[in-house]
Amino acid sequence: MAQLNASLRPAPAPPPEPIPVTLNVNGVERALHLAPWTTLLDALRLHLDLTGTKKGCDHGQCGACTVLVDGRRINACLTLAAMQDGRKVTTIEGLTTGDALHPLQDAFIEHDAFQCGYCTPGQICSAAGLIAEGKATTDDEIRELMSGNLCRCGAYPNIVAAIRQAMTIAGPKAEGAP
Ligand code: FES
Ligand code: FES
Repeated sequence: MAQLNASLRPAPAPPPEPIPVTLNVNGVERALHLAPWTTLLDALRLHLDLTGTKKGCDHGQCGACTVLVDGRRINACLTLAAMQDGRKVTTIEGLTTGDALHPLQDAFIEHDAFQCGYCTPGQICSAAGLIAEGKATTDDEIRELMSGNLCRCGAYPNIVAAIRQAMTIAGPKAEGAP
């Protein structure tokens, strides 16, 4: 009987064709063909081999996957790559200028603002977005506006100190978009 029921079931629909998606990633135009459900995070990590951006929760709760899209910070696990078609994406790999680190990267090193370092790329991209937004002036505001980025090691005081320094040095230029 079970076999009969199975044979009466309609055949499963074929998987949808990959769709073309073009992203400008760290200043380079990248043409991809992706399953429609591919997140921006997976497109970066699995299809472009940009593994600096980390997958923590994959549910929008930890901020490890934060990148900049058109200069604004976004959780790459919460958006489909296709939704960002044609946009400019900056990952942690794109924040350097030649061999020179971004002021935030220098400041994170100087202030020892990471321990395991897993959350660090997301923290730095988020901080770049925060500085570009220009809303934070106090340590409390930095903490509040960075609250979407979790650090299991608890390096928060050093992260705030590093951001504070980068704000002073780089001002709005810390946006990070190439
Ligand atoms: S991996 Fe995207 S928010 Fe945690
Ligand atoms: S440095 Fe380890 S999670 Fe932040």
